[in-house]
Amino acid sequence: MSQSVSQVVNEAARRRTFAVISHPDAGKSTLTEALALHAEAIDSAGAVHGKAGRRGVTSDWMEMERARGISVSSAVLQFVFKDTVINLLDTPGHGDFSEDTYRVLAAVDAAVMLLDAAKGLEPQTLKLFDVCRARKIPVLTFVNKWDRPGREPLELLDEIEQTIGLRPMPLTWPLGIAGELQGLIECETGEFTRFTRSAGGATKATAEPVAAEVIAAEEPQPWAAAQDELALLAEIGAGYDEKDFLAGVATPVMFGAALSNIGVGRLLDALVELAPAPAERVDADGVPRALDTPLSGLIFKVQAGMDPAHRDRMAYLRISSGRFERGMVLTHAATGKPFATKYAQSVFGQTRTTVEEAFPGDIIGLVNATALRPGDTLYAADPVEFPTIPSFSPEHFAVARCADTGKQKQFRRGIDQLDGEGVIQVLRSDRRGDQAPVLAAVGPLQFDVVTARLEGEFKAPVTLENLSYQLARRTDAEGEQALASQSEVEVLRRTDGTYLAVFSNKWRLDIVQRKFPDVLLEALPAGTTPS
Ligand code: G4P
Repeated sequence: MSQSVSQVVNEAARRRTFAVISHPDAGKSTLTEALALHAEAIDSAGAVHGKAGRRGVTSDWMEMERARGISVSSAVLQFVFKDTVINLLDTPGHGDFSEDTYRVLAAVDAAVMLLDAAKGLEPQTLKLFDVCRARKIPVLTFVNKWDRPGREPLELLDEIEQTIGLRPMPLTWPLGIAGELQGLIECETGEFTRFTRSAGGATKATAEPVAAEVIAAEEPQPWAAAQDELALLAEIGAGYDEKDFLAGVATPVMFGAALSNIGVGRLLDALVELAPAPAERVDADGVPRALDTPLSGLIFKVQAGMDPAHRDRMAYLRISSGRFERGMVLTHAATGKPFATKYAQSVFGQTRTTVEEAFPGDIIGLVNATALRPGDTLYAADPVEFPTIPSFSPEHFAVARCADTGKQKQFRRGIDQLDGEGVIQVLRSDRRGDQAPVLAAVGPLQFDVVTARLEGEFKAPVTLENLSYQLARRTDAEGEQALASQSEVEVLRRTDGTYLAVFSNKWRLDIVQRKFPDVLLEALPAGTTPS
């Protein structure tokens, strides 16, 4: 093995690339910040990778996001913890953006499912978890807000198992019911760490190991209750099993409170010790691409207008193999065209720095990559193409028109831009013309993003006219012809060339299917919103 080959393999082994999925308000932003700050604290103590001044990890970048308290964009944070490079990808908290989440999850090796101790599995968590399941991503679970009154830990574990069929494997166990947390017990060793919050709970809790006999004497009742529960868990065989975790059938569970930094270090330890490092990624032909082959990667997200100071378009590349060096010229697999990477950047929230080198698992931002779309492959030397990321079946449709006739050009540019980023699917037909494209969404909030961005970034006010269609099927040119005369059905073309037949409801689809048994009407990958 040559020097650089082993370097790539070694660097990949010290990377963990994951995303946090949760229902809005479960504490994703708080946890993200706590993870980054916790890691930084360790770093500055070790004085190896000082990153002073990198604060404010918010990825909320639109007024609308702030107003609604949702995060639409997916930022990437990279930090070092105990010599492991952590790449944390942000996912939108709302299921309406599940298509975006799916793309982000195409770029990770693991996910953290974050639950609110009082609420357990909430609807958005379920939808996002479905995406993890579809992608076979190993999931670690963090039960947050244990500093507040909440539910019984065993009841929460049972809910995870019953509702999503993931077998819970607790790594830590809380001492004290939710709201009266004293500390955390390591399930495997029985070791106890006490967390003490300062008066008012405003600051981070301090952690100190306390001997079992001491805490048992101090807190006899909660200790006895926790021991009973741990004995029960041991009896049912809830211990950690690596194979089941990696296969996505069981999930390690940890308890804590992100706001007070309780259990955050334990979660980082679990990510480092248990979450898989970047492995060989399988290409579109099912052939694994070895880590030490020349550079290759997948574009999983394209985004513009994140920050008024950087009004450019950024394509995010997840490196699958090889060592990236700034300035490399890559090939865009979809077009065969060369792509220069002079302006590669790493992104930390809203702060960008030029990236000089990167390894499998890392995410780099490619600036002004106008030709790149989510699902595209870039490679150096050895040609490869990774499976593209499918678009979901849209369930909401609206005709977009420019409300100011003087802004048609901006309107068209904006629509093309949002289409290229994958913010929304844009459907066209000869009948409707280019001035009135049909926007197709998995969730209705996508329309709000489109409207806000067209008006804010492109100065093109837009009116949306909702259409009564509810489902789509893939068809072809023959289908377009055959269905042209049918009512409550329309065939439109997506920018990627796919023909979509859209129907007002499934009864209409049934009727058309029976009437035209030879017409192609194929189901598309389902979004995770309920139909
Ligand atoms: P999100 O990104 O998942 O939407 O959640 P976010 O972190 O914004 O947290 C939602 C609310 O939950 C925030 O309170 C936050 O402070 C609180 N929170 C997060 N983690 C914990 C925790 O471990 N314990 C407790 N008690 N609260 C937690 P907020 O009042 O909505 O906002 P703020 O005024 O505190 O910022």
